[in-house]
Amino acid sequence: MKNKVTKAIFPVAGMGTRFLPATKAIPKEILTLVDRPLIQYAIDEARAAGIKEFIFVTSRGKSALEDYFDHAPELEHSLRKKGKDELLEVLKTTNMDSGAIAYIRQHKALGLGHAVWCARRLVGNEPFAVILPDDVIAAETPCLAQMTEAFAETGGNIVAAMEVPRDRARAYGILDVKEDMGSVVSVRGMVEKPETGTEPSNLAVIGRYILTPKIMQNLNRMKSGAGGEIQLTDAIEQEVRNGGEVFGYRFRGQRFDCGSKAGFLQATVAFGLSRPDLRDEFGAYLTGLTQQQQAAE
Ligand code: G1P
Repeated sequence: MKNKVTKAIFPVAGMGTRFLPATKAIPKEILTLVDRPLIQYAIDEARAAGIKEFIFVTSRGKSALEDYFDHAPELEHSLRKKGKDELLEVLKTTNMDSGAIAYIRQHKALGLGHAVWCARRLVGNEPFAVILPDDVIAAETPCLAQMTEAFAETGGNIVAAMEVPRDRARAYGILDVKEDMGSVVSVRGMVEKPETGTEPSNLAVIGRYILTPKIMQNLNRMKSGAGGEIQLTDAIEQEVRNGGEVFGYRFRGQRFDCGSKAGFLQATVAFGLSRPDLRDEFGAYLTGLTQQQQAAE
C-alpha cells in the first residue's frame, strides 16, 4: 500500500512538572492509569494501527522507560515457576521485537517540533505518526487506526481534532478550517496557542498526527514560535503555505488530558469503570459517594 505508516515517534522528553513530586524520580509517562502506565496505552494504540517501529524522544531521567520495555528475566522466571501464566501474558505486552524500539535524546527542551525533528534520521523519507502519550483516547477503533485509514485514502498530513470550549482554545493548536466535510476537514492554517479571541475556530489539535516527510524538512528551518519553543504546529502550517495538504480528523472516541491532574483523575475513573474486573466494586463505591454527596446538599 502506498500510504502505509509503520513508524511512530513518541515525544517523552518533558519534565512533567505538573505532577511533582511524583515525577521527581519517575517519568510522567510511567504514571499509572489503573494498572498500566500511560506509555503502554500509547504503544498499544500504535500497534493496533500497524506501527512496527517505535521511536522515543527522551531526555535525562527517563531510563525507567527503557527498562519498562525490556525483558525482566528474573521476574519472568519466577512467574513461570509459580505457573502464573496470565501475568506472563500481561508482561508480554511490554516487550518489543529486537530492533523495533529506538531511543533518541533531546538534549535541550526546545519544544515539540524540535523533539520530533530529533528523530528525523530514524524516520527517513517515509510518512510517520506522532503520538503524545498525555492524550489518552478511549475508542472502539483506536484513534490512530482511524487516522491511518483516512491517510491511506488521502495521503495528506492528518492531525486529530476535537471541538473545545472557546475559552480553552489558548491551550491548543487550533485549526483554521477551509472546508468542513464532517469527520474530515481541510485546513488553510493552524495557530499554536492563540490568544483568547483570536482563535480561527474552536477545533483543536489533539496529540495524534500522521505526517509526511516534508514536515521534517520544514522543521529543519523552523524558528521558535509560541512560548519561545519550536512548534510542530508551525511546521505543519508551513506545509499548507507550501501548497501541501493538511486535514483535521474528528476522531470517534473520548479524549482525556492526562497532562493535567483533573484529566488524569477523570481517565482513572473512566478506565476503572470500563474494566470488567473492577466495574462492580468501583461502580458501587462511586454510586455510594454520589448518594452521600446528594444527601449532604
Ligand atoms: C501540544 C501541541 C498542541 C496540541 C496539544 C494537544 O501542546 O503543541 O498543538 O493541541 O499538544 O494535547 P502541549 O499540550 O504539549 O502544550
